[in-house]
Amino acid sequence: MIKRVRSWWGAEQNDEQPPAVSKDNIPQHVAVIMDGNGRWAKRIGMPRVIGHQNGMKAVKRTAIAADELGIKYLTMYAFSTENWTRPKEEVDFLMRLPEEFLAIELDELIEKNVQVRIMGHKEHLPSHTLAAFEEAIRRTEHNTGLILNFAVNYGSRLEITEAMKKLGREIEGGTIKAEDITPELIGKSLLSEEMPDPDLLIRTSGELRLSNFMLWQLAYSELWFTDIYWPEFNKEHLHEAVAEYQRRSRRYGGLK
Ligand code: IPE
Ligand code: IPE
Ligand code: MG
Repeated sequence: MIKRVRSWWGAEQNDEQPPAVSKDNIPQHVAVIMDGNGRWAKRIGMPRVIGHQNGMKAVKRTAIAADELGIKYLTMYAFSTENWTRPKEEVDFLMRLPEEFLAIELDELIEKNVQVRIMGHKEHLPSHTLAAFEEAIRRTEHNTGLILNFAVNYGSRLEITEAMKKLGREIEGGTIKAEDITPELIGKSLLSEEMPDPDLLIRTSGELRLSNFMLWQLAYSELWFTDIYWPEFNKEHLHEAVAEYQRRSRRYGGLK
């Protein structure tokens, strides 16, 4: 069957199947800035929150497609430390979404062997939001498949600031010396802890910026941007991003 898909530059094209992804060289960690929910809703004449609701379906599609590809870590930027500045009704809606998402999807995520995690400044989250995540984390902790890591109330500058304070306290307490600080120690002190750095960053909606997302961890990630709004993101787009990733030459400052 010929499917109509949209390419990353937004033009429609006919494709018989998603772009060929090689089984070798699958990115281990893919991070996603899920952007464009509000604009997607506006385009169809609906309130912004309808965009967020449909964005949840894209999270599920993407997690399943990532797992099928053999991606091990999928980090999804769901709410930033800057998103609190939005109108209260929108923030309240967003803080209710995890409960709704997990109530509908958790059983299937468990069945698919997914491990749910969160990365963010948990202490500022409403208790009902945190409780929903904690239940999902607990019920999936013995799973061994895809790690589905939600960045919630996440901000990279705050993350780095908190890590610096923690290391500063350790120096004051005498457990480490200033000379002991290495890039590895800083990396392990961040909220991403033991996770490998993202190999591939995807941002939807045409914005070409990082919006305070994983500034330390993305130092050598491959970046892939698409004009697609997050609620329309699907398996074909993920395959397109991974296929493009596989065509890149990662040199890390060295020579090929
Ligand atoms: C991304 O979509 C979701 C969050 C930031 C929570 P937006 O809500 O930013 O949608 P746009 O960018 O306004 O279209
Ligand atoms: C980034 O999107 C945050 C998330 C996707 C959660 P924003 O919509 O908040 O970013 P800006 O305002 O366009 O930079
Ligand atoms: Mg946005």
